[in-house]
Amino acid sequence: MRRPVIAGNWKMYKTQAETREFFQVFNPLVSATKHCEIVVGPPFTALAAAVESARGTAIAIAAQNAFWEPEGAFTGEVSMQMIADVGCRAVILGHSERRRYFGETDASVNRKLKAALAANLQPIVCVGETLEEREAGRAERVLNTQFLGATAALTTAEFSRILFAYEPVWAIGTGRTATPETASASHACLRCLAKEHFGEENASSLRILYGGSVRPDNIRSLMAQEEIDGALVGGASLDPQSFSSIVNF
Ligand code: PGA
Repeated sequence: MRRPVIAGNWKMYKTQAETREFFQVFNPLVSATKHCEIVVGPPFTALAAAVESARGTAIAIAAQNAFWEPEGAFTGEVSMQMIADVGCRAVILGHSERRRYFGETDASVNRKLKAALAANLQPIVCVGETLEEREAGRAERVLNTQFLGATAALTTAEFSRILFAYEPVWAIGTGRTATPETASASHACLRCLAKEHFGEENASSLRILYGGSVRPDNIRSLMAQEEIDGALVGGASLDPQSFSSIVNF
């Protein structure tokens, strides 16, 4: 049995005060939740407030990115050790917005993934094709490249600690969700790659989240799919009511 994970990605939203307000409403709404792991990913500046607000709950806090070097002359960067030090338990890596706007590549995702594992963080590795790639019939090839690039030179033990998030770029923030069947087919493709490169056991225990316009009204049909092990939620994770109804699907 793969335990579902519902993760929120706040992107560049919320001050510290807004973060505290969120958890004040959110915590009681999920205090009885047992069926899934809950992760919230605020921006760097709100991580400490989030960790403090989630103390004593089962909610894990994630950063949305971090650099691979532990420290050094890297102006503007924050390391995996630093986000672990502030109390993060997870880190989102390779989100399509980072690939698109900030030059993230499969090679940099791979270095960050190794650094995250070394810092004992739970990496959530994002992959997914653009609309152009899907329409050109290249979706599977793109997943293949991103999967192999991200997981290059990982041991099977390291691989067993990763979460994947399939996020088709055309479904992010667009209100256009992949149908449960389309998402499912992509998840199956990733699981097949996991089996080929990291073995049957790793493949069957790998948790793959779906991301892209997940909302309270579509979470159930997505989670009804055998292949879908959770969700990475952007816009709908900003509101405690809407995110709690996704968590309590
Ligand atoms: P969305 O974002 O839910 O707002 O589409 C998902 C994501 O980017 O992780």
